[in-house]
Amino acid sequence: MSKLIVITGATGMQGSGVIDALATNPDWRIRGLTRNTNSEKAKALVDRGIEMVAANLDDEDSLIKAFNGANAIFAVTDFYEPFAKGIGPENAMEIEYSRGVNVARAAAATTTLEYYFWSTLPAASGLTNGEAKVPHFDAKGAIDAYIKKDPVLNAKTVFLLTGFYASNFNYPPFTPIYSKPAGQYILPLPAKSSSYLPSLGSVDNIGITVSGLLQYPYPKSASSSEGGRYVHVTTGKYQIQEYFSKWAEIAGKGRLQVLSVPFEQFEALHGMWGTELGLMVKFWESAGPPRMWGTVEEGDVMIDSRELEGVKDRLISAEDVWKRADWSQF
Ligand SMILES: NC(=O)c1ccc[n+]([C@@H]2O[C@H](COP(=O)([O-])OP(=O)(O)OC[C@H]3O[C@@H](n4cnc5c(N)ncnc54)[C@H](OP(=O)(O)O)[C@@H]3O)[C@@H](O)[C@H]2O)c1
Repeated sequence: MSKLIVITGATGMQGSGVIDALATNPDWRIRGLTRNTNSEKAKALVDRGIEMVAANLDDEDSLIKAFNGANAIFAVTDFYEPFAKGIGPENAMEIEYSRGVNVARAAAATTTLEYYFWSTLPAASGLTNGEAKVPHFDAKGAIDAYIKKDPVLNAKTVFLLTGFYASNFNYPPFTPIYSKPAGQYILPLPAKSSSYLPSLGSVDNIGITVSGLLQYPYPKSASSSEGGRYVHVTTGKYQIQEYFSKWAEIAGKGRLQVLSVPFEQFEALHGMWGTELGLMVKFWESAGPPRMWGTVEEGDVMIDSRELEGVKDRLISAEDVWKRADWSQF
């Protein structure tokens, strides 16, 4: 009989990545969660044969019901939806933390649970001694700490450190601007163009990692009895200029120049998004080689997705994502 995986954020990017990786796997049946089972996205999933159930991350009881019988749970929280309402980063962090705790508590109450996949990001403040405080990273880092305090749930948890999506070009701070007189695209960023984008991501790889770990459990040699078991879901790193130039080449946009601007100018260009994502770019710089993105705290263990059985040969590179996308209207 097939086992049950419950996927939060099923109508979103990460949840879709996990659904795509498992939809045709006869060993797993999928239950997706959404706040609105009547949305177009939810209905499209039902048309694909996915069971869709209503639940809200603000409502722990709804999660406990939705997790009933789950052997595995994929959990993701969305920092941006509350943040986009202009409530400020501190309040958005509080909401994300409370939602992450609700999911973790509901998972802990699920007696059938074997695997808890928690989608997270590095705890930037702690890892940089307060140098790079990135609210959407730190909120997730605080949820990691909450999970680690529950030894039973922690033993079932794989912390997935996810990278910068290859599809992020539609977010204005990462949308290159075409300069007609210069005859090229320009992308202002608050970083040296020679510094690194240290974690290349694709939502497909989050799903590929989850499905691989369901088949080949987390390697025993890298297991931890006290800290967290992390997987850095990445296909590698790129220098910032190299990354965006490669995209411009594949997307057929010609030349692209990353323009290194002071943090304050990036904020002036993009308002609160400039602050939030500028801090993330600052963290990229401080987490660059030799430390790299997948820095974890003492007691944690971490493995790179490129070393995992059942994952390493299936990962999709940023170049693959760009090649299959249609950039003609961009
Ligand atoms: N962009 C990047 O490069 C990147 C990289 C790594 C990590 N991340 C992280 O990814 C997270 C967002 O994930 P995503 O990209 O998959 O988001 P997304 O595509 O915007 O989708 C958000 C999902 O969350 C669900 N959701 C939101 N609030 C909910 C609530 N209160 N209760 C139940 N479900 C709720 C939505 O479901 P319904 O609307 O159907 O209810 C939807 O499925 C962010 O926290 C971000 O920090 C982003």
